[in-house]
Parts: sequence; C-alpha cells; structure tokens
Amino acid sequence: MTALLREVEATEPQGFSVAPFAANKRLQVVTLTAETIAAFDQAIAEWPLQALEYKPFLRYAVADKLDALTGYSLGKFLNATMRDRDTAAFLLQYEGQPEVTEGELRTEFEIKLSTAISHIIGLPNLDAMYGKYYARFTVLNDDNSDSYLRQAHRRMELHNDGTYVNERTDYVLMQKLGEANMEGGESLLLHMDDWADLDKFYRHPLAKQDIVWGAPKSKNVETKVKHPIFFEEDKNGKPHMLFIDQFAEPQNMAEGIYLYEMGESIEADENFFRVRLPVGSMLVVQNHCWLHGRDKFVSHPELSRELLRQRGHFTK
Ligand SMILES: [Fe+2]
Repeated sequence: MTALLREVEATEPQGFSVAPFAANKRLQVVTLTAETIAAFDQAIAEWPLQALEYKPFLRYAVADKLDALTGYSLGKFLNATMRDRDTAAFLLQYEGQPEVTEGELRTEFEIKLSTAISHIIGLPNLDAMYGKYYARFTVLNDDNSDSYLRQAHRRMELHNDGTYVNERTDYVLMQKLGEANMEGGESLLLHMDDWADLDKFYRHPLAKQDIVWGAPKSKNVETKVKHPIFFEEDKNGKPHMLFIDQFAEPQNMAEGIYLYEMGESIEADENFFRVRLPVGSMLVVQNHCWLHGRDKFVSHPELSRELLRQRGHFTK
C-alpha cells in the first residue's frame, strides 16, 4: 500500500462520504451531503457563472469555499486519490438540491461545482474547441461533426485526452449536465495496469519513438505535435501513456501496424467497466493512467445529452 493511500485513510471525510465503485474498486465514489451542497450554494450565490468566466481568481475562491465547508478534508482526499496510481479516479455526486432546481441557473450551479472540483485538484487548460476553461457540448441523434465526440450511435473507443496539444493534460473531468431519451451511452473506463497487453506494447521498440498527432478542424488546433505513446514514467517508474486512435498520424508501415494492433488490443480487453453518470455528477480521471471512452446509445429521434468537460494539469 502506498504512502498516499495511508494518508487518504487517515483523512476523516467531513461533509462527504466515500465508497469504492462496485464494478471496479479503483474508482472512488464521493458523495457530498445535502448540507454541504446547501451551504456551498449559499456561499457562492453572489457570483454568477459569468463572473467566474471573467475573473479567473474567483474560480479558486469558489474551490476554497467548497473545501472549507469540509474542513479541507475534501481537497486532501481528492488530491491524494488522484496522485495514487492505484486509484487515480473519482465519481463525484451529491445528495439534496441547490435552491434553484431546474433550468439554466441549475446548470450554472453544476458548472460552478465542477469548477470548484477542477480547481481543488489543479488548473484547467483553455479548451480551444469552446474558447473557455470548460467546454459544453450536446450529443444529439443526428450529427455531422468530424470526430466521434458527438456521434451517438457508435462506441467512442478507449483513449487518453490531450494527445494533440502541447499542454499537459494530467486530468479529465466529465460532467453530465442534462439528458433526455437516453438508453446506453455509459462512460467506459480501463486502467492501463488492468490492460492485459500493456507489457507487450510497452516493451515494443516503437513504445518510446515519436508519433505525429494532429486534430480535425473542429478542435481549433492547427499545429501538429510529436510524442511517443509511452511518453514518461511516474515516480515509481511505471509508464504514463497518451494514445487515441483517431488523431495518430503514422508515417510508415511499422508505426501504422503498431498503432493498429494497440487499438485492437485495448478495444478487445475485458477489464474495462461501464459507469452511468447521473445528471449533475462528474467523473474525474488521471489522464495518463486511465483510458476513457463512451458506449453507444440506442437511437431515438429526441435523444439529447448535454456534457461539460474540463481538462487540466496538476498544480501541487
Ligand atoms: Fe476524451
């Protein structure tokens, strides 16, 4: 057991509870109490979301309000969880309701909550697709976009985020803002230490060779970047990875086949698990040791799902 895990166990949660996720005990389910949510709602009521967008320091003030309500035990727990490779992921949900229970103001509350969580663990990068520190997007039944992000009827393969940007993407936060007529579409997760073929691909001669990565037009990222799949090791010498099937641009047959076989192996691995996210909840994963994806939906003409994401780097 790592020192960090001992630290997590020594931290007595105040204003929230913790339980391991049923299908995979690495994932920590964090539930804020109704009292914490009501007090947080009140504490941040003076700041509309727009104020947080205009004044970056307010995002830290919001984060501090939430952490203070838990006697700073929430920040301790979340940071220790994210830095322990054996866990490195949490699903955060809450009991009770904020004062405004529906409509755009309710959604603003959810965004303020994910802003608090994101700033407790780090600093979100500018999301080039949306032009803010977060991105909101909708998945509908019909979609003509140029990547699989918003396409409902197919599985979005397991991948890491941040493959085609130069900024570090230590964590990914995915929040469910709204949903109607949805069946299927669960989040998919696979920890790379549970991937049966990890060693085969990590020991491969191409494991640490640069690969070229580009992005489709909608991402608003013009330049290409180069980095290996296994781009660094953590403090214990275990690999961190950056892989996504759609945006790798192999330059020769050997790279093409290595990437193809890696994609096939990850998709065939049986150790992935599904997570259903209730509206208002969020999933946060350490991006370099967790692969994430999304299962396909059942078609419905009125199907809709609104999501928010924040991707950032650790600051502690
Ligand atoms: Fe992603």
